[in-house]
Amino acid sequence: MKYLITGGAGFIGSHLIGKIITKADKVIVLDNLLTGSKKNIEKFIKLDNFEFKPHDIQHHYDISEKMDYVIHLASCASPLAYTKFPINTLKSGSIGTINALGIARKFNSKFLLSSTSEIYGDPKISPQSEDYWGNVNPTGPRSMYDESKRFAEAATQAYVSEYDLNANIIRIFNTYGENMQLNDGRVVTNFIVQALNNDNITIYGDGLQTRSFSYIEDTVNGLLLALNYPKSEIFNIGNDNEMSIKDLATLILELTKSDSKIIYKKLPVDDPLQRKPDLTKSKKILGYQPKIDIVTGLSKTIQWIKNNSNKIV
Ligand SMILES: NC(=O)c1ccc[n+]([C@@H]2O[C@H](COP(=O)([O-])OP(=O)(O)OC[C@H]3O[C@@H](n4cnc5c(N)ncnc54)[C@H](O)[C@@H]3O)[C@@H](O)[C@H]2O)c1
Repeated sequence: MKYLITGGAGFIGSHLIGKIITKADKVIVLDNLLTGSKKNIEKFIKLDNFEFKPHDIQHHYDISEKMDYVIHLASCASPLAYTKFPINTLKSGSIGTINALGIARKFNSKFLLSSTSEIYGDPKISPQSEDYWGNVNPTGPRSMYDESKRFAEAATQAYVSEYDLNANIIRIFNTYGENMQLNDGRVVTNFIVQALNNDNITIYGDGLQTRSFSYIEDTVNGLLLALNYPKSEIFNIGNDNEMSIKDLATLILELTKSDSKIIYKKLPVDDPLQRKPDLTKSKKILGYQPKIDIVTGLSKTIQWIKNNSNKIV
């Protein structure tokens, strides 16, 4: 089987490749390295069945070799990155998705879109199930990300209905683990780096806002289950163990045996107060079941960050 993966040099992409590379006939990664890194894929680069192509998916990519799967991961994914690169983020989700869909259409490949729980915005219901339409500010400070993904979903659905493309939309909930960038402002890495450095742990807001954190292995298993699902569907993938940001900070302090103090800063505009996936559909249809509990996942992530301690800033 041949795979084309946009954004494959990023956090999730690098783990996904690790799972498929030994059985794949070919994996081609298109990435502009805006937030990803060659280091994430360096162990694959020497393999005969792996190709890295520096390419920005907002531009057409000419390919003649038939791909069985097209997986569209390319996008800025952290608030720091999409605030820094708002136009590229919008173009990755819009023109980039159309370009990726075009490749899938050309070869009748199975298409997988990495969408996000952010399409639910600041949700008015919890947990969020796939049929919830969300509560999104279309011009707010997170809109370049949220709306680009909402467009990407609409574009994917249009290719399913007009061209009968076989495509799955995966709404990924907060995922953490090895190969995350340490300085891109995502809460798990922020807290771990602060704790390991004995710096103050910064909580935005009162810390009572919730998230549901999924360890990378579970998220990637969910993506692979969806990739092998023969019909076009929308699935939430993540972990439904909801916790407050304050409890996350306390747990990380315990696991790192840190002397850091927790300090509080103003909650950013439009920061969602609650985030919990309803996994009923993905469990029932895909047989998806997250397996890694938060203590195990965080411990592995902390160990990896310690091993890469030269990166701690
Ligand atoms: N990690 C999460 O918690 C999470 C949650 C929801 C959705 N997602 C989605 O999963 C996907 C992967 O996220 P990640 O966490 O691995 O982020 P990441 O930043 O580590 O990876 C994204 C990759 O896309 C590349 N990229 C960005 N814009 C591009 C462009 N225009 N052309 C080509 N390459 C481009 C980056 O260089 C990077 O390698 C993203 O689409 C993201 O929106 C991630």
